[in-house]
Amino acid sequence: MQGFFRQEHGESLLRICDEHTGVVPDDGYSELTSEEERMRSVVRLQQQMQVLLTEVESRRREEQFRLFVEAVPDYAIFMMNPEGHVTTWNAGAERIRGYKASEIIGQHYSRFFLEEDVQSGKPQKLLDRAAKEGHVEDEGWRVRKDGSTFWAHVTIAVIRDEAGRHVGFGNLIHDLTEAKRAEHALRWSENRFRLMAEAVQDYAIFMLDPEGHVSTWNTGAKRIKGYKAEEIIGRHFSCFYPEEDIRAGKPARELVDAVAQGRFEDEGWRVRKDGSTFWANVIITPVRDETKKLIGFAKVTRDITERMQKERALRDLTAHLLQLQDEERRRIGRDLHDTLGQCVTAMKINLDSLASSLEPKNSSAREQILQCVQLAEECVKEVRTISYLLYPPMLEEMGLRSAVPWYLEGFSARSGIRTSFEAPADFGRLSRDTELALFRVLQESLTNVHRHSGSGTAHVRLLAKDGMAILQIKDHGKGIPSAILEESGESGRRAIGVGLRGMRERLGQLGGRLEISSTEHGTTVTAMAPESSRAQTKSA
Ligand SMILES: Nc1ncnc2c1ncn2[C@@H]1O[C@H](COP(=O)(O)OP(=O)(O)OP(=O)(O)O)[C@@H](O)[C@H]1O
Ligand SMILES: [Mg+2]
Repeated sequence: MQGFFRQEHGESLLRICDEHTGVVPDDGYSELTSEEERMRSVVRLQQQMQVLLTEVESRRREEQFRLFVEAVPDYAIFMMNPEGHVTTWNAGAERIRGYKASEIIGQHYSRFFLEEDVQSGKPQKLLDRAAKEGHVEDEGWRVRKDGSTFWAHVTIAVIRDEAGRHVGFGNLIHDLTEAKRAEHALRWSENRFRLMAEAVQDYAIFMLDPEGHVSTWNTGAKRIKGYKAEEIIGRHFSCFYPEEDIRAGKPARELVDAVAQGRFEDEGWRVRKDGSTFWANVIITPVRDETKKLIGFAKVTRDITERMQKERALRDLTAHLLQLQDEERRRIGRDLHDTLGQCVTAMKINLDSLASSLEPKNSSAREQILQCVQLAEECVKEVRTISYLLYPPMLEEMGLRSAVPWYLEGFSARSGIRTSFEAPADFGRLSRDTELALFRVLQESLTNVHRHSGSGTAHVRLLAKDGMAILQIKDHGKGIPSAILEESGESGRRAIGVGLRGMRERLGQLGGRLEISSTEHGTTVTAMAPESSRAQTKSA
């Protein structure tokens, strides 16, 4: 607005002001003649115009904001007068509450509340608090037009005019029903899980903090370990371990292993509150939050003393039976050799002398007697073979290193399977039990090769390595079916036959083990026993 200070511009200025602003310089303007008066009037007009422009801009912004508020779909935004009657209504409010603007404007906002909230005067209380504190927030059930309810987060703020007069309230409402339902479902499932874990009787299930202090306790833990929750929560879990385990740093090591491997499992003695011990199966699992930060450990302990005792009894029984079987075989072998073998040998001698005492004219009788001599010889041989298979005397006399090739020779002759043997010349003697156990493995494995593998060859190695005597029997047959191989796994308890289980058991009793590897190209059975192992079977 510059350049209107000359008299000839007066008319144009008046017109422009009238057309665009509605503000016209006062009537005295045309009479103003002095340059100074005209200048003053123009400045005044300029100022009025500035005010008008600001107001136009502010109305434009208000209009934009109103359009925005009306369009917001996820939030109910509406205004109320100071008494709580609705004065404006947006699209979100219509969507969330179900009322059209025309249906609700002028109504009191208490109709959005549950009957009991209205009864307790909650709508007015919220308005009072908002009026007092400037704004108020609330979360709770609200009612839609159709009577259904939704979980709302509500903010009510006081609105004041420029003079500071309370002219109404602004309401912002967010429908949190879905979030609430999810939270509710989560809480319900967490609660159920907690109740279930607490109720379990057969397992001690509890949590440790990252340092190993007990932080939760269930019924099973109380039953198995004897502590009440209030007696144990906060204490370090090492109190469940025997003195020597604590001294050896076992509890702390278990937590470290659990973190390193993601899980730790152990079986061993644990101590109850009263000092008595039980044989426990323990699983420790690290627990992490969403950011993968370690927040503690879940510990599940089972009292398996009874099972352990039964297994131990069964193992003792098996060891005893295997020992009895060996003794029985040895006795039968010896009896066969010493009685039947001797009798047949004596009979052969007698038949020999009878044959030589017969007259040549009795040639047919002589012929028959000589046949009897031959049969007696075969009998003696057979008795000796059976007796030696039952219990090879050279095993005790000359040791495994000599008994293996002797056995292989007989096995090849009986089965037609070619065998080879490899052993260091200086392979010394082992304990009687170890030699017998390895010899039984040889017998059983070769019987299996003959019965199941279809292999035409078998290779046997005997060696000593790292304090272990190792006997290996390898065939090139069709292999052990994978189902049987899995079943016979490390424990071998569920293998179908007695052979593999018996071998495992024998070696286990000696502190050794049996390994089987098998493919469709053949099977290798490896038996390992400590070179120093002695007969400690009964105490194992
Ligand atoms: N060398 C082998 N080659 C192929 N299959 C084998 C071999 N050894 C064992 N098997 C398979 O494993 C099974 C279990 O063997 P195991 O010696 O335990 O029992 P078994 O020989 O069937 O009976 P038992 O030994 O009690 O007389 C066999 O039935 C057979 O199917
Ligand atoms: Mg077998």
